[in-house]
Parts: sequence; structure tokens; C-alpha cells
Amino acid sequence: MIGKRFKDIAKKHLSTVGTINPSSRFLVDRVVSYIRGKNIVEWGAGNGCVTRGILDYLYENHPDDGHLTAFELLNEFIPFLEDLKRVRNGSRLTVVNDDAAKLEAYVSDCDCLVSGLPLAIIRRKSKDKYEALLEQASRVPLFIQFQYNFISRNRYRKYFSDVRLRPEFRNFPPAYIYVCSNNSRAAPEIR
Ligand SMILES: C[S@@+](CC[C@H](N)C(=O)[O-])C[C@H]1O[C@@H](n2cnc3c(N)ncnc32)[C@H](O)[C@@H]1O
Repeated sequence: MIGKRFKDIAKKHLSTVGTINPSSRFLVDRVVSYIRGKNIVEWGAGNGCVTRGILDYLYENHPDDGHLTAFELLNEFIPFLEDLKRVRNGSRLTVVNDDAAKLEAYVSDCDCLVSGLPLAIIRRKSKDKYEALLEQASRVPLFIQFQYNFISRNRYRKYFSDVRLRPEFRNFPPAYIYVCSNNSRAAPEIR
């Protein structure tokens, strides 16, 4: 049911969402396994499938003081995220219905930024916006970007000294996770 609703919203706003399927459990688990720290930001939360995984990570690893700020541009996805906030302990999650580019206006402390933004599409629409997003991401200790192509490593190397890439084929479309940082000691082992 939730998957169907995601598809309906995605078909209507394909160039903003970038795919018609929400991330699979396999992709979510792999992305979450690379997260480090207790102040987490998510860019492009959609229907909350990755958001839920990040909250589980926080409950397990930082039960007293972990926090997640989830950005989502499309109003239609916000009820999914507000529901998630209701059924989980709401104080751990802040939902921001605004552009991910405004990260620094909302968040002052971030250990790890997880993004499902369709960066390739954003780049095609506006190179300035794409570069501004990556500039911001490069100021965070750890940036985890998942997307559907494996050709961005060199682009990300412009912003990060350490860029690791791991595919997750048990997703449709097949996904590629880029784990980026400017401190190789902050980066997790990629398995
Ligand atoms: C590929 S979907 C990922 C959705 C969900 N996190 C998942 O993994 O299934 C990308 C999401 O980014 C959102 N998005 C696109 N551009 C955005 C922006 N500039 N700021 C915030 N969210 C944005 C879209 O609306 C969509 O929900």
C-alpha cells in the first residue's frame, strides 16, 4: 500500500523523486550499516523507508541523545514522515519540509549526512545547485549518497579526499552507495 502511494507520488514528480520505487530493505540496511555518530541528517526522506532505518540505528546506538533531521521537499510525502514521528518517539526526529540546500539554516551539528537526492537530475537542472549541495555535504564528517549510477566517483572526489563505492543489486533499480569523507579515519569499512 505504502509502495503504491510512493509510486503515485513519484510518477507525478518523477524529476524530483528520480525513481518510481522506494528503497528496498537490502539497500536501507546497507546504507544504515555505514552510518556513524549521533547527529544525523537525511536528505530526500520520501516515504520514510530510510528514515525508519536511521531511527532504529539511533535507538540501538545512541538511545539517550541521538537525533535525526529529515529533509523532504515534496508536501505529499510529509504525512508519511509525520506518521513515523507519531508511532516512534517523536523527539528523536525533526521533519523539515524544505529544500535540502537549506541544511545549514536548520542544522548546526551533523556527524553524518545520508542522501537519496537524485543528484544527477539536480546537476542537469542546475550545476550551481548541485555544487552548493556537495559543498555543504563536504563540511560534514561523513556523507553517504545512494543513487542509480556508478559514474560519480570522480565528481565526488572534487569535494572529498576519500570516496568509497559499494553496489546493492537487490534494489530496483540497482543502487550504488557512495561513502565520502575528508578524513579516511572517519570512514567505515565498506563490505
Ligand atoms: C530517490 S527518492 C528517495 C526516497 C526515499 N528516501 C527512498 O530511499 O526510497 C529522492 C527523494 O528526494 C526528494 N528531494 C528531491 N529534491 C529534493 C530537495 N532539493 N530537497 C529535499 N528533498 C528533495 C524527493 O522528493 C524524493 O522523496
